[in-house]
Amino acid sequence: MEEGSESITKDRGTVCVTGASGYLGSWLVKRLLERGYRVRGTVRDLENPAKTAHLLRLVGAKERLQLVKAGLLDERSFDAAFSGCEGVFHTASPVMFEADNPQAQVIEPAVTGTLNVLKACANNPTVHRVVMTSSTSTLRYPEIELSNQVLDESNWSSVELCTSLKHWYAVSKTLAEQAAWKFSEEKKYTFISIIPSTILGPILSSNIVTSAKDILAILKGDALVARRYLRMGYVHIDDVASAHILAYEKQEANGRYMCSAFDMADYELEEFLQNRYPNYKVPISIPRNIKPPFAGLSSIKIQKLGLQFKGLEEMFDDVVRSFTEIGVL
Ligand SMILES: NC(=O)c1ccc[n+]([C@@H]2O[C@H](COP(=O)([O-])OP(=O)(O)OC[C@H]3O[C@@H](n4cnc5c(N)ncnc54)[C@H](OP(=O)(O)O)[C@@H]3O)[C@@H](O)[C@H]2O)c1
Repeated sequence: MEEGSESITKDRGTVCVTGASGYLGSWLVKRLLERGYRVRGTVRDLENPAKTAHLLRLVGAKERLQLVKAGLLDERSFDAAFSGCEGVFHTASPVMFEADNPQAQVIEPAVTGTLNVLKACANNPTVHRVVMTSSTSTLRYPEIELSNQVLDESNWSSVELCTSLKHWYAVSKTLAEQAAWKFSEEKKYTFISIIPSTILGPILSSNIVTSAKDILAILKGDALVARRYLRMGYVHIDDVASAHILAYEKQEANGRYMCSAFDMADYELEEFLQNRYPNYKVPISIPRNIKPPFAGLSSIKIQKLGLQFKGLEEMFDDVVRSFTEIGVL
């Protein structure tokens, strides 16, 4: 994407980011401010500096960032946040892999929350484009046998299969994105979804999200075997932010966009981490003869839209640097 002072000085209008205090939301707010947007960010708790201080310190925040309180299950709370906005980036969703009450803690906020956000967009006279953050968990678990298949935007996870695996996050993201597509039919706004794989890169707040926690655990010597994803995609957080902004700014953007730079079998991840960070105690726990469930993830569509992915080393070096800066590694 174009960078530099020209992009900072140009006024690009007002957009809203839901879940602004989150890992991705924060980075997206940073990049939008740098590009000259006026940004509304929704947060659940305006009084908690752990959720807001890093946002208020961003370049341009003093002049162009406004934080607004909104909760996914508070149906009308997005009306004020979207007032006067031309675009909405919907990143807010529970990112948790274990829950005592998955329906209430994960599925309901993701699905009903997404519909609440979209209802507010539909009722708003100025919002013309909505970019939602989905997840590769919406397509990595189809009913069909995958083994040699490269997955793309045409694939969808089976909710029945994810439920039987108790993969509540995948259930929540699949149902939320499907509900979003259905609700957005024939609405006055254009709806686009970005489908990132595991997001890594710099952490702006001190909160370490689940995706980064997995890598932290391996670097601290925990065996990966408990995870059993077997093959995963990885993408730099800056590329995910760029994908959202490209989808918003490029008129021709449409539909779903996979956003995954590399995919590795879990044993390859262990070997990569062991070679790249020899000072840490990375265990080799995955046998090489375990067959990963799918052959790869195709991000050709977002690359054709103009995204150039950062390298694998940069992605991991950036998150490892954040671990040491925060003091957890
Ligand atoms: N991290 C990854 O590897 C990854 C990969 C693919 C897709 N994604 C997607 O990216 C998006 C952002 O995730 P993230 O990685 O940045 O995780 P995160 O740091 O946990 O951010 C999630 C955000 O959602 C907000 N949220 C959760 N429940 C909410 C509720 N009931 N009402 C209002 N806000 C709520 C959180 O608010 P609080 O700050 O108040 O908790 C937070 O701002 C999510 O849609 C996630 O599914 C993430």
